[in-house]
Amino acid sequence: MNKRENQMIGCPMPEKGVIAKGVYDAGPMLKDDTNGPTNEESLMQVVCGVNICDFNEYVEMLKKSGARIYLENGMINDRCVGFEYNDKQYYAMFSSKRNEIRIVEDPVELPLDKFAYSETGDKKTTVYCYGLYHDPANKNTLNTINCGMIYIIRLSDGSLFVVDGGYYFQHSKEANDALFNFMSEIADKQDDGRIRISCWYFTHGHDDHTDGCTRLLTRFHDKINLERVMHGFQSRLLCRGFSPACIDMKEVVTEYYPNVKTLKLHTGQKFRLSDMTVEVLFAAEDTISADALDTVPLRDFNSTSTIVKLTIDGQHFMLLGDTTTETEAFTEKYGNPELWKAEMVQVSHHCFNHLPKMYEWISAPVASVPNRFYGAHAHDNIHKLREVFKYTKDGQVYYNGDATYAFEATKDGFVNVATYPLSGKEFDMSWKHKHTV
Ligand SMILES: [Fe+2]
Repeated sequence: MNKRENQMIGCPMPEKGVIAKGVYDAGPMLKDDTNGPTNEESLMQVVCGVNICDFNEYVEMLKKSGARIYLENGMINDRCVGFEYNDKQYYAMFSSKRNEIRIVEDPVELPLDKFAYSETGDKKTTVYCYGLYHDPANKNTLNTINCGMIYIIRLSDGSLFVVDGGYYFQHSKEANDALFNFMSEIADKQDDGRIRISCWYFTHGHDDHTDGCTRLLTRFHDKINLERVMHGFQSRLLCRGFSPACIDMKEVVTEYYPNVKTLKLHTGQKFRLSDMTVEVLFAAEDTISADALDTVPLRDFNSTSTIVKLTIDGQHFMLLGDTTTETEAFTEKYGNPELWKAEMVQVSHHCFNHLPKMYEWISAPVASVPNRFYGAHAHDNIHKLREVFKYTKDGQVYYNGDATYAFEATKDGFVNVATYPLSGKEFDMSWKHKHTV
């Protein structure tokens, strides 16, 4: 392969277009980048001034050069491929609205077809919007908090897909025991008696989304088999606002599960985990401008939340993490909001953000709010929730600060099939973060 001028990653580059100067450091997977880049940074290069024909020619050239293509996906007028070249993993996406090809080199990743799996079982896939204790007055105190979220999806093969984890205040010993017991009830056990968590997904690097994982795996790692981790975390060096406590989660996962399969998420990835399809609709790296590859143009760290659409029995569940108006504006300009329609939505950022366009794109008849009823209806938040109410049917809004709600997908959408009381109250001061500000 003849390297082109400005080329800094190891795969063939498109023959057409101009390679933007420099490389964007999209961050490591499980290593700590507090003190500088690690040896597992994902690196992105951008080729400008190209069209879809140039991208199609590029894909043909990749095939001829011996690259193994394991993902091809189209999103309206955008196209992407995932491929392996010289034992390294790459991801290339054509953006029609920017006339760019973005290519990411992921040094520690498995090929997507080895990360994904499609074995199914006889369980009815169930979404558990898991209840966490939120401050009763929508405040932050010395032992309560008004944010945090965790979702658990029991897949048809009896394993668990877990989203985020909740803040450490929400994981008193009582609450953390209850979470483990709940998982034990709903999951199948392996021959060795352990629960299978087939994948733990983190929407973004804030501690109210990772602490629950840290504590659960610290206490119960000998009873849990964690098979996969995926996230779209960006470089801590480039994105201000990353919670140091997320390093605690990374260290616990690395210590107890050194062979865990990992996946860095990129927009356009679409793959199966048992019977569920995961589709990535937004990753923070999308917002990087070709003429400033060393700058993340996001003011709010919550904007780094990856946005993922899950498909279960033909029904769609949108996970927004703590996404913001910055993502909304970006998606309107460069993304594909036509793909966002869903039958259920996780209301973003504990109902703190006003996202009228986003909720219109999604138009979900069922909503799950990672806050209690009181917090979501508080004076500062109620007008944000009204944007969700425009699309929900028959009061189908569920508050994770009040209870755990179970949903099954039917041909008529997601239906609440069971409700469980909340476990745990105010924090008992039984543990704390290792890495602090
Ligand atoms: Fe949050």
